[in-house]
Amino acid sequence: MIAPPEEFETERLRLRRLRLTDAEAVYTEWARDPETTKYLIFRPHTSVAEAVAFARRCEAEWDERADFTWIIERKPEGRIIGCIAAHPADDKVAIGYVLNRAYWGKGLMTEAVRSLTSWLIDQPDVFRVWAVCDCENPGSARVLEKAGFELEGTLRRWIVHPNVSAAPRDVLCYSVVS
Ligand SMILES: CC(C)(COP(=O)(O)OP(=O)(O)OC[C@H]1O[C@@H](n2cnc3c(N)ncnc32)[C@H](O)[C@@H]1OP(=O)(O)O)[C@@H](O)C(=O)NCCC(=O)NCCS
Repeated sequence: MIAPPEEFETERLRLRRLRLTDAEAVYTEWARDPETTKYLIFRPHTSVAEAVAFARRCEAEWDERADFTWIIERKPEGRIIGCIAAHPADDKVAIGYVLNRAYWGKGLMTEAVRSLTSWLIDQPDVFRVWAVCDCENPGSARVLEKAGFELEGTLRRWIVHPNVSAAPRDVLCYSVVS
């Protein structure tokens, strides 16, 4: 079982444990935006209440060590711009992430993914860090490639991205192993 730090620092970012008090920023900064959520597993939030429920779940799952979600803040002003999560299962950890659209294309998520992955893969009980992205989400695939993940292949009909289709979609599967 992993016990990740509640904070990571990178050159431009601070990653810190997501708290209930972050719900409004989650809603405003990305969860309500149809373009940002297009390839995610939830529909855009239509009220802060949905983000509150999400934040509550994140807090509980962290306490249970089932899932770990960090808010991504841009330094130095501390603006909340996204989040990144790790889901452990036995000796593997899956990651996922999202960033406010205004900050895309600056290498920020690559920086966050590198930092988290480096900590995870250094843990003696973690042998695989992995992620999937929709086969039509090249920006996410590129983040994983830049962060040192290797493409393993396509998982066909793997996951529903409800903003694209009600049927499960093909995803690209990437991993780092130790
Ligand atoms: C995917 C996402 C996290 C990327 O974050 P980001 O900070 O913009 O990523 P980076 O700047 O570190 O890298 C993005 C790379 O993808 C490339 N890219 C972006 N859109 C692309 C496209 N349509 N086709 C090809 N490459 C693309 C960028 O050029 C960049 O590569 P480069 O540095 O070689 O030029 C962000 O776009 C996002 O939050 N998207 C919505 C949520 C999402 O899809 N999350 C992932 C779910 S698997």
